[in-house]
Amino acid sequence: MRMYDIIQRKKAHEELTEAEIRFLIAGYTMGDIPDYQMAAFAMAVYFNGMTPAETAVLTDAMMHSGDTVDLSRFGTLSVDKHSTGGVGDKTSLIVAPIVSALGGKLAKMSGRGLGHTGGTVDKLESIPGFCTELSAEDFLAQVEQVGVAVIGQSGDLAPADKKLYALRDVTATVDSVPLIASSIMSKKLAAGAHSIVLDVKVGSGAFMKTREDGEALARQMVDIAAACGRQAAALVTNMDIPLGSAVGNAIEVMEAVEILQGGGDRRLRSLCEALAAEMLCLCQGWTPEEAAARVTEAVDSGAAFEQMCRWVSAQGGDAEYLRDLSRFPTAPAYDVCAPADGYIAAMDAERIGIVGVALGAGRAKKEDAIDFAAGIRLLKKTGDAVTAGEPIALLYTNRPEAVEGAKVAYLEAITVSADAPAAQELIYTVVR
Ligand code: URA
Repeated sequence: MRMYDIIQRKKAHEELTEAEIRFLIAGYTMGDIPDYQMAAFAMAVYFNGMTPAETAVLTDAMMHSGDTVDLSRFGTLSVDKHSTGGVGDKTSLIVAPIVSALGGKLAKMSGRGLGHTGGTVDKLESIPGFCTELSAEDFLAQVEQVGVAVIGQSGDLAPADKKLYALRDVTATVDSVPLIASSIMSKKLAAGAHSIVLDVKVGSGAFMKTREDGEALARQMVDIAAACGRQAAALVTNMDIPLGSAVGNAIEVMEAVEILQGGGDRRLRSLCEALAAEMLCLCQGWTPEEAAARVTEAVDSGAAFEQMCRWVSAQGGDAEYLRDLSRFPTAPAYDVCAPADGYIAAMDAERIGIVGVALGAGRAKKEDAIDFAAGIRLLKKTGDAVTAGEPIALLYTNRPEAVEGAKVAYLEAITVSADAPAAQELIYTVVR
């Protein structure tokens, strides 16, 4: 078999065989197939796509290119969640305690923030003492005892995807639905959960800019899971508006606590409830009505908050910070004021995420340090009425030199208009 012929066949719109796909992934992982041939292949896929069968084999081959986690001891109770990434997306911090309080087993590997999107691992590390590196043994023991453990991505999980993703990043081939679907699902399947709920974000703050693309990605990922013998569902959700009212790290942990204590932003709570209910339908076999009722009860009774405290303590974090949010360090706050009377008609979530990075809440480069106290409080969001001079956001930063530029950039990300905009849906569709 020759890589040249595989590229040629993909270029000619032909369907590749399972053997060809396994050959190219094995060869690329081993270093036998060079980057330039893989880049040509990725570009051929970008233009000509892949069939569902090809995508499923590509995913399976990348999933088995390195370590896989065996969660079989948890049977069908093991369940995972993945968001394609957004701004203010702290749903994992809320959903994990809810689902594990209700018997689901979450052995979760999460990422760090990169670019304009935040990462669960960084947010958790803003809780003093919280450790996101556990041995495989401790990780699984914690899931057994507490119901949930969240760590950073293991070094050798789907190494073929790691290599291919880095190559796609520099060859303009990231935004291909089969390549994104196989990339995400290879890691999720390697992480071992029997059921997976995907939150596919669509809009200005997301990878997928249109609903059509988001729905196609959701469909492919759910079908891949089925082809690999797992259960999955995907919610396609709005990321034209940042999620909740906090963007950052400690500030997002605090917002998660507010939700688990019965307060906070309604849209954020309803998305978390929908994700948690979907996970419980899959892992517990409950009906949607039963799952929804139990999720609401877990939040309203405080059981989910207590579970968050148990989880944080188990990973070495100081749960007293969750019980008394004033203990989190804060950075000086600077307000951004409405430029005119009217309504917030639109928010560019990606640009708002970039403002967060400039304040110190994210990293421009992988090795940058994060300031956990930096972030943004969104006081007014899309649809809200504003009067000129009224504060619409608070910028928290220990970088006074970044403030003026950040204020200008924040205002550029906001559209104020005389008329109220139409209400935006939160959950566009659910793909099962
Ligand atoms: N996230 C991934 O893990 N892979 C992609 O291709 C895109 C987003």
